[in-house]
Amino acid sequence: MKYSKMIMEHFKNPRNLGEMENPDTIGKVGNSVCGDTMKIYLKVKDDKIEDIKFQTLGCAVAIAMTSILTELTKGKTLEYASKIKAQDLLKNVEDVPKNKIHCSVLAQDALKDAIKNYNKKHKIKK
Ligand code: FES
Repeated sequence: MKYSKMIMEHFKNPRNLGEMENPDTIGKVGNSVCGDTMKIYLKVKDDKIEDIKFQTLGCAVAIAMTSILTELTKGKTLEYASKIKAQDLLKNVEDVPKNKIHCSVLAQDALKDAIKNYNKKHKIKK
């Protein structure tokens, strides 16, 4: 399978990859299509994402799209981050094969899960 330059660049040099010590929240999801998993860690300060990291057992597209997602959301408010959609991620790359679209949803879902868990922990109703 041939991927765009942007996907290959983020796949080979993923931003914010790895485990985070003492995160404020964690989001975890599994993909029902391929069985891959994604974990996103957040440090939150003043309602903003101070730091974000991810770990995945996913494919090249999942790694690249999550790397892009971390760049788009670091320093942004939780509200902004919770509104990011897979289409917003896909706008940043030239082309994603149709059978790989579900891989970009994995990143978005894990981030939403992390924010939901943070809000639950801090009793913030959204
Ligand atoms: Fe599983 Fe891409 S094939 S995340």
